[in-house]
Amino acid sequence: MALVGPLREIGPQDILHARHLQPFWSGWLHTDVRALHRRYGDIVRVAPDEISSALADAWTEIYSNTGGPAFPKSKLWHGATPGLPLSILNALDTKVHARFRKAMDPAFTEKSVRLQEPIIQDHVVLFIESLTELASKEPNGAVVDIVKWLVFVISDLVGDWGFGGPFGCLQSGENYPWVSMIFASLRAATYRVLLKYYPSLSWLLGLTVPKSVIQKQIQHWKLAVEKMNRRLGQQIERPDLISMIKCDDEGVKGLSLPEIHATASVLVVTGSETTTSVLSGMINYLVKIPNALAALKDEVRSTFELESDMSLAALKDLPYLDAVIQEGLCVCNPTRRLRSRSPPPTRHIRQRAFSLFVALARPLPQPKLIPERWLAEDPSSIKEQRSAVQTFGVGPRSCIGRPPAMAKLRLVLARLVWRFDWRDVDTVKGRLEWDQQRSFSVVERQPFEIGPQVLKDGFSERQRG
Ligand code: HEM
Repeated sequence: MALVGPLREIGPQDILHARHLQPFWSGWLHTDVRALHRRYGDIVRVAPDEISSALADAWTEIYSNTGGPAFPKSKLWHGATPGLPLSILNALDTKVHARFRKAMDPAFTEKSVRLQEPIIQDHVVLFIESLTELASKEPNGAVVDIVKWLVFVISDLVGDWGFGGPFGCLQSGENYPWVSMIFASLRAATYRVLLKYYPSLSWLLGLTVPKSVIQKQIQHWKLAVEKMNRRLGQQIERPDLISMIKCDDEGVKGLSLPEIHATASVLVVTGSETTTSVLSGMINYLVKIPNALAALKDEVRSTFELESDMSLAALKDLPYLDAVIQEGLCVCNPTRRLRSRSPPPTRHIRQRAFSLFVALARPLPQPKLIPERWLAEDPSSIKEQRSAVQTFGVGPRSCIGRPPAMAKLRLVLARLVWRFDWRDVDTVKGRLEWDQQRSFSVVERQPFEIGPQVLKDGFSERQRG
């Protein structure tokens, strides 16, 4: 097909082995595609009928609806799951999807984030206090799996916002069962889609995806329905998801009950995994780059006398914090491949943000966090390529969760550098390199340890004073 099909013009690049079955299966497709882009340039054919683009302009051409309708999402990757209702992610019909967006948009605006601020601040305070307790226990410095604690705080935030109350992770120091199912479920979902390319191999699914994983997916669904029903049964006034989205029994103007269930199950993953991943990635890089970490600490500590001064609005005005986050979103992109589109008739095109990162950072020998690239005064030529980085996507299906995600990224990171100095620790988990993690639908995060030290003559003196 590659030689005679309509994509034959795009070549003569390599095609990943056996239609990228092996790299997909192993979780390393993103690095293989990045290598292809390095070798052949901005447009490569990664399979007989599949193209990956790293061109900045392609974002508008493929994803936006300016000048014509945006290309539809790929049915193969995002089609509905048989027997389950549609969610915002797999409502492929543009009219149905527009109804989902219209009904859900009010819950994701800057205004709604402002209304939720007291709840967000409370959970982040509990997170910082819990870490302080841990860090203060060891006179010679504690070693903490920071990813575990980030998962706790972000999960509690998602629970409180989406399901009427936190999942209790920070209180118990344990993952909510739901959270620990996510990676297994996502990997199974990736395998299931991949095997759609090869219907004759579908029997492999039974062999490679253990029954326990399938059961976890079913449990995940049941739990989402149960939690959502409980929230719907509460007649309370609070600025959360359910009070802000538009519901409609008939599913004509708002979301029907089954659609709310399906969307709730999606939001647990999209709302928690992405944000946790970027935070853990930024910390993983920063702890090894003393200059960038020092610049961030200086900015945050010199701007805020008290921690309680760190409102979401005030944090928006910190240029270095913003530069770290923009760079973190680019280098630690959590959704390296979630955005297949099918231009007519049936071809698949993907804009790979991970490859876009490579395009942005081509002069660099390896992925590295360089916040200065995002500062107004940055003299490097890389600055011109910033528009190639669209971690939240582009067009009518771009990320609805950007405002809450940005608020949480700013607040958690700023609070962490205000209260603690971070030590790089030489343990097995402390040596984790962020870009050495596999990626299925999202990056499969590994534990990562740092040594947080409570700032003695900063935090405690200032608090006492
Ligand atoms: C750093 C954090 C995040 C990143 C990098 C991110 C990235 C993305 C991207 C790239 C897409 C578009 C996929 C496509 O074009 O097919 C997307 C869609 C989406 N995201 Fe996010 N996301 C983040 C946080 C969140 C949060 C916090 C939520 C919810 C609370 C969320 C909910 C969604 C939903 C529901 C969609 C589907 C939108 C639609 O199809 O209309 N995301 N996200």
